[in-house]
Amino acid sequence: MTEQTKVARQKPQSAQEGVNLTRMTDKIFERFSEFIKAELGIKMPASKKTLLEARLQKRLRELCMSTHEEYCEYLFSPEGMDEELVNLVDVVTTNTTDFFREPKHFELLSQKVLPELFARGSSTNRNVNIWSAGCSSGEEPYTLSMVLSEFARQNTGFSFSVLATDISTQVLRMAVRAIYPETKIGPIPPDIRKRYLLRSKERSRRLVRIGPEARSHVRFRRLNFMDEFSFEGQLDIIFCRNVVIYFDRQTQEVLFSRFCRKLAKGGFLFIGHSESLAGMNLPLEPVAPTVYRRV
Ligand SMILES: C[S@@+](CC[C@H](N)C(=O)[O-])C[C@H]1O[C@@H](n2cnc3c(N)ncnc32)[C@H](O)[C@@H]1O
Repeated sequence: MTEQTKVARQKPQSAQEGVNLTRMTDKIFERFSEFIKAELGIKMPASKKTLLEARLQKRLRELCMSTHEEYCEYLFSPEGMDEELVNLVDVVTTNTTDFFREPKHFELLSQKVLPELFARGSSTNRNVNIWSAGCSSGEEPYTLSMVLSEFARQNTGFSFSVLATDISTQVLRMAVRAIYPETKIGPIPPDIRKRYLLRSKERSRRLVRIGPEARSHVRFRRLNFMDEFSFEGQLDIIFCRNVVIYFDRQTQEVLFSRFCRKLAKGGFLFIGHSESLAGMNLPLEPVAPTVYRRV
């Protein structure tokens, strides 16, 4: 990148207004689409062209670029792969999430899954390892941490840890901060809020932070499902919800087979309510809708 372009790319937003953006050609869209599918697993059919175009507009403006061709050239340069790929990931991923999303999963966890795992553990090892795969901004792993902490309060000797991974660095930053607007805590039961959330000292800011106890059990890592799972050990529970809907069927099956290899025998897999494993050849038996046990 020339010095001149670098300076242009650092111009403040106000200086960038008035940049005329052009439409993305089909050829450029295909290039992005093939790359996104191969690198991130996310399917990008022609029907998503307008969506991608709209999501990239902001990025183009920030970089003071006026055409998608220019952006494409930059992205696929060695420098772009180093510096821009993380931003493209933030552009193409959908990060919608919530505390206690799909609450039936957490009821099943407390009432059936955790008692079963706890009873199975030896008297010296009753540790449960959970993976929140595709954790977005942290609401899912912190919900898990609060639910498991509650179970631990009632079951002496029970311990757990939550590994939380996502491909997007932007959401992982939010997850590590663990600060959320008060408007997001509605689904958290009041007694759990009292025990595990901290209110901002400045009440007018209307923010809460996940308290140290619930935070202490969760560790975050960046992980792309298309890469090796670069961590040791087997998991007792995997939550991979509302992630694979963005992948094609073949990619989903490959990914679930890899999850099964990471899941201890008798361990549990939770998937999103709109997702299905029907027709896939996997070593899993159904336990409840969208919940499976490794056989
Ligand atoms: C809709 S959110 C789901 C969050 C949470 N599991 C839930 O159900 O509320 C999907 C997450 O999957 C992540 N994701 C998408 N493609 C991925 C990939 N190839 N590797 C890892 N994470 C990915 C996205 O960044 C996003 O944060």
